[in-house]
Amino acid sequence: MENDLSLRTEGDINFSPARKSWYASLDHETLQSLESDSESFLHQSLSTPCLNSIVSCNGIWITDQRGRKYMDFHGNSVHQIGYGHPKVIARVKEALDVLPFSPRRYTNPYAIQLSHQLLSLLPPALGKVLFCPGGTSAIGMALKLARRITGRYQVVSFRDSFHGASLDAIAAGGEAQFKLHMGPVGAGNITLPQPCQDSRSAESDAALLEATLEKNPHIGAMVAETIRNTDVRIPGRDYWKAVREICDRHKVLLILDEIPTAFGRTGTLFAFEHFDIVPDILCLGKGLGAGAFPLAAMVCRREFDVAQDISLGHYTHEKSPVGCAAASAMLDVLEEEHLLQKAKDHESFLRVQLQHMKDAYRIISAVRGIGMLWGIELSGRDRAHSCEVAEQVMYACLERGLSFKVSQGNVIQWCPPLIIRREELNDALHILQQSLEEVVGTADFS
Ligand SMILES: Cc1ncc(COP(=O)(O)O)c(C=O)c1O
Repeated sequence: MENDLSLRTEGDINFSPARKSWYASLDHETLQSLESDSESFLHQSLSTPCLNSIVSCNGIWITDQRGRKYMDFHGNSVHQIGYGHPKVIARVKEALDVLPFSPRRYTNPYAIQLSHQLLSLLPPALGKVLFCPGGTSAIGMALKLARRITGRYQVVSFRDSFHGASLDAIAAGGEAQFKLHMGPVGAGNITLPQPCQDSRSAESDAALLEATLEKNPHIGAMVAETIRNTDVRIPGRDYWKAVREICDRHKVLLILDEIPTAFGRTGTLFAFEHFDIVPDILCLGKGLGAGAFPLAAMVCRREFDVAQDISLGHYTHEKSPVGCAAASAMLDVLEEEHLLQKAKDHESFLRVQLQHMKDAYRIISAVRGIGMLWGIELSGRDRAHSCEVAEQVMYACLERGLSFKVSQGNVIQWCPPLIIRREELNDALHILQQSLEEVVGTADFS
């Protein structure tokens, strides 16, 4: 099933010949760990069998049980400030010592501080927040709140979008792999093609949304990633401005999913800042927990605080002192270490370097990026060839100490920690270049 190219969306595959060769390079003890993992954990697509077994992570690095180190350019998008930042670890340890848990119905200083700190960084209109343990749950709360506010139950989203793995999130998203064997999941939700990056298409993409809303009066919300994380798609400013205006006119709530892309990933604290719009509801997660704790948030307009009669989240860990301590430290680190500026500086550097690489290697058909989020698309003879090469390049990079994920089968996705040093970025570029050279050279595939 994983060999079905149409289902290769979120990540690389686990049963290919390239994966088999990778296993052959691992030592006996690591293979035993993988076997032991596979024995007890339920197998699921994209996660099992595992790639390797890691024993520590620090800064931009993960270390496997053989002691090999890899720059982590994937990190499931949680590691904006890298792993094990001393400030995060100190605050988490303090919270663990003092208040490891806060039962629901009680508040605590860690949660109060984080709520105020986070809201102070957002536009004043976004004045209320709920925390929860994961991004999927933040999306679930947003969907419930939108129904409560609008009285309408359908949503419009982008085809092949991912907003989490739970049934409510897959109903709002479009990824085929997550819906397989699930039966009916939607409430008649509607998906639209992903908007084009090309600003000339903004008008027609927006017109399609408008026509869809006109035809479907039960749509109460639009759910979308502001910038698509997985294969890095960046719609134009005109598009988002038009969407905001259309949603307002149709009284449809705009729910932006910035679970992987907030907190400096795109060079601004929040991705919507690039487009001069403000969502009605914003979903955050991943990096919020500082690469240490599962924490997500749903932020919404202050006037949406009208759902006291229902439970939007009711999560056991809804005000985790440990998670909130980690998140608060992460926000401090972003500011103190000027990481937004650093991400912008790295962006300019990567744009030039990756364009050079595109010019040198015919297999690279597109390079897209913003801040510290980059997609390097490979196009070979045909789709199968493109996917095969992307995978081989990924393993060749792994062998050289660089870890990243492949999206859509043929897009190398780079999501490096913002704390990375320029020399390390250079090393990563060098590894990519060596690996491309090894796998394809500059061969012409036309
Ligand atoms: C865009 C997007 N939304 C939602 C989620 C779900 O977040 P979580 O895995 O924390 O539930 C993800 C996770 O990869 C994501 O990339």
